[in-house]
Amino acid sequence: MSLSDMKGLFITLEGIDGAGKSSHLDEIEAAFRAAGHRVIRTREPGGTPLGESLRTLVLEQPMDALTESLLVFAARREHVRQVIGPALAQGDVVLCDRFTDATFAYQGAGRGFDVGVLSILEQWVQVGPALRPGLAGELLQPDLTLWFDLPPEVAAARLAGARLPDRFESQPVDFFRRVAAGYAERARRAPRFERIDADRPREAVRDQVLSALARRKLIP
Ligand code: TYD
Repeated sequence: MSLSDMKGLFITLEGIDGAGKSSHLDEIEAAFRAAGHRVIRTREPGGTPLGESLRTLVLEQPMDALTESLLVFAARREHVRQVIGPALAQGDVVLCDRFTDATFAYQGAGRGFDVGVLSILEQWVQVGPALRPGLAGELLQPDLTLWFDLPPEVAAARLAGARLPDRFESQPVDFFRRVAAGYAERARRAPRFERIDADRPREAVRDQVLSALARRKLIP
């Protein structure tokens, strides 16, 4: 069955800051292109002009946890309506650097914000007839989530001095312990999660990613 029959493939990359997920996007994209698929690459918060403006606010301006959650979901709404939904409808592979798992991990587990409220916002934002063919009334979710798992202490050492930290990167390691626990908890419950051991040399991480895609029969 081709991806266009399957109505596209929605893949997200997740992990704490410093886990190195973004550095594998090129290779994942190349693997899907080599297999003959159209690929679009995008990120959250962001992916649309409005979403990118909201990203700047979220990463730079102090705000409370509800405001932060509303802004990431507002950006997400534009993103699913304008970019992700249309791409899936034409059978493309959507490679997205972070999605709603990040909201549950960062705003929920990290900030301690009410996950019940996050679930309600998720229902508002990710349900709708136009989001994915055949999915009316159901939640738009990734088909596969590559979760780059790395001990928070190792991630902190990697980030130290790398660049000017944003509002999240400047959080103490305890914050990232909670975020990491939030990801682990979601990974336990959802089979769409593929754990990647990110505490390995770069090539070894890349090999795990590509073999996970092959094992799930997404690439040859
Ligand atoms: P990130 O994806 O790590 O990009 P970069 O590599 O450019 O730093 O940065 C996005 C930050 O936003 C990251 O710290 C996690 C945070 N974030 C949330 O807190 N909630 C969300 O819902 C999303 C998508 C991201």
